[in-house]
Amino acid sequence: MSWRAALAEAERELAAAGVPSPRVDAELLAAHVLGVPRAQLALLGTGSAERDRLAEFRVLTARRATRVPLQHLLGTAPMGPVDVAVGPGVFVPRLETELLLEWGLRAVAGVPKPLVVDLCTGSGALAAAVATSRPDADVYAVELDPEALAWARRNLGDRAHLVPGDVTDAGLLPELHGRVDLVLANPPYVPEGTPVPPEVADHDPHRAVFAGPDGLAVIRPLVVLAIRLLRPGGALAIEHDDTHAAAAPAVLAGHAELTDVVEHPDLAGRPRFVTGARVAP
Ligand SMILES: C[S@@+](CC[C@H](N)C(=O)[O-])C[C@H]1O[C@@H](n2cnc3c(N)ncnc32)[C@H](O)[C@@H]1O
Repeated sequence: MSWRAALAEAERELAAAGVPSPRVDAELLAAHVLGVPRAQLALLGTGSAERDRLAEFRVLTARRATRVPLQHLLGTAPMGPVDVAVGPGVFVPRLETELLLEWGLRAVAGVPKPLVVDLCTGSGALAAAVATSRPDADVYAVELDPEALAWARRNLGDRAHLVPGDVTDAGLLPELHGRVDLVLANPPYVPEGTPVPPEVADHDPHRAVFAGPDGLAVIRPLVVLAIRLLRPGGALAIEHDDTHAAAAPAVLAGHAELTDVVEHPDLAGRPRFVTGARVAP
């Protein structure tokens, strides 16, 4: 069988399983098996595919059809300039979070050697992306879950200070209080009970996704910690649920220590993250 035919077959299998982007996923799995960029698949033509590679591709396609996340099968997920290792036990970084990253990098563009804290780091994706984009930055990454911490340790190496800790503890990182130039956070924010796709329900850790009845159970105390960490003029960006267009900015605006509270949409126009700045004490 040719790769062209194998891809068509895989696309049908994934579509039948309800995978939202069956063609793209099939191509990414084929490119992974072949060790080539996806764009090169077009060059494969109609010649016969090698048997072992085809068998491996079919195994991966069958697993994807059971709704195992694509990134678990590929072994990595992108975040800006980096690919981080992901798999069972850690949240898969999402493309939309790159908007938060880009905003944060712009916020410290003119700050030499910025001190940056990534709260709820998961795989360490945001911290790794900041450390790579700004090699002069001093980056801290905080995470509660032991399994996620193991992935973050693997992804960050010595590029960031990995801190086991609870971001709802306003006393965390006392040595950084009043000094931080940028706090980034992609915390759990989905209201409990919200229906989610199988990739999320069965493979992202529950604690990474859900945060109480209104989804703000982590964001509310996290903002208190962020205020303690930030220096006057320091910047804060927090990703949130698309139902939080009013509620997330209201949490920030409820603190007199924060100013310039702005809500930002993602590429699909959905409310996605909120930013603010620390006023002088
Ligand atoms: C939505 S995931 C985001 C991970 C990563 N920032 C990203 O964008 O891929 C949220 C992460 O927050 C962690 N987390 C949840 N509650 C926490 C808490 N109270 N303190 C520290 N980390 C927490 C979860 O274990 C999970 O790894």
